[in-house]
Amino acid sequence: MALTSGLAENSPLSSFQLITLRIARYNPEHDSAKTFMEFQIQYEKWTTVLEAILEVKKYFDHSVAVRYSCRQATCGSCGMIINGKPRLACFTKISELNSNIITVEPMNNFPIIRDLAVKFERLFDTHHKIKPYLIHDDNEITKDTKEFLQSPEELEQYIQFSNCIKCGLCNSACPTMATDSSFVGPQALAQAYRYVADSRDKGKDNRLKIIDDSHGIWRCHFAGSCSQVCPKGVDPAMGIQLLRGYMLGFRS
Ligand code: SF4
Ligand code: FES
Repeated sequence: MALTSGLAENSPLSSFQLITLRIARYNPEHDSAKTFMEFQIQYEKWTTVLEAILEVKKYFDHSVAVRYSCRQATCGSCGMIINGKPRLACFTKISELNSNIITVEPMNNFPIIRDLAVKFERLFDTHHKIKPYLIHDDNEITKDTKEFLQSPEELEQYIQFSNCIKCGLCNSACPTMATDSSFVGPQALAQAYRYVADSRDKGKDNRLKIIDDSHGIWRCHFAGSCSQVCPKGVDPAMGIQLLRGYMLGFRS
């Protein structure tokens, strides 16, 4: 079924162009497989995929399930598969996709709640598992403790990894996540590196022990697809390799 945007028909603007937006529909409670609904949507140069989906919700079918919040690539909520690749819907302009047909589907490697919305429990559980905070010795902090200073070189060791917004795109792209439901995943491993490499942290041995597991760091076979899809410039594949350097004693 193809429906044309109500906004398009009423709009006085002539700079719009038309695309076909295909939205995956699936409710695990009563559907056996995904189906797709098609909508004709007008867009301009800066229209994002999220805006097109919200137009469908506004004019045609409010029941389309999609998660979003900030609309500025900050909260990590709107990850989905857009024309076959994991991307943030709010950070993907229709014009950059160079296609008259845009297909949106839920992220791979995440259980589907409904339509485009997926469950994040596994991502948050594994993120939490690697202790994503600075760890200090109890007696290290006294009433006289002030700042923990860092040099620019020390900051450089981990700063890109602190840009992670926990969107899950890297886990969605990872082939190992698809085959091992216990794999800790690139997002959590990249965050383990972020804290291990932080000169202020004292939790390295603890974290390395947590990921030294057949479903941990050794399960990664370095496909590198995680790093290709990160919208924040994080390179999880590199973080995993650097982390292995700590585990094998090449770094300290
Ligand atoms: S590393 Fe990148 S792709 Fe993975 S969760 Fe963080 S921001 Fe998203
Ligand atoms: S809505 Fe927040 S990252 Fe897209």
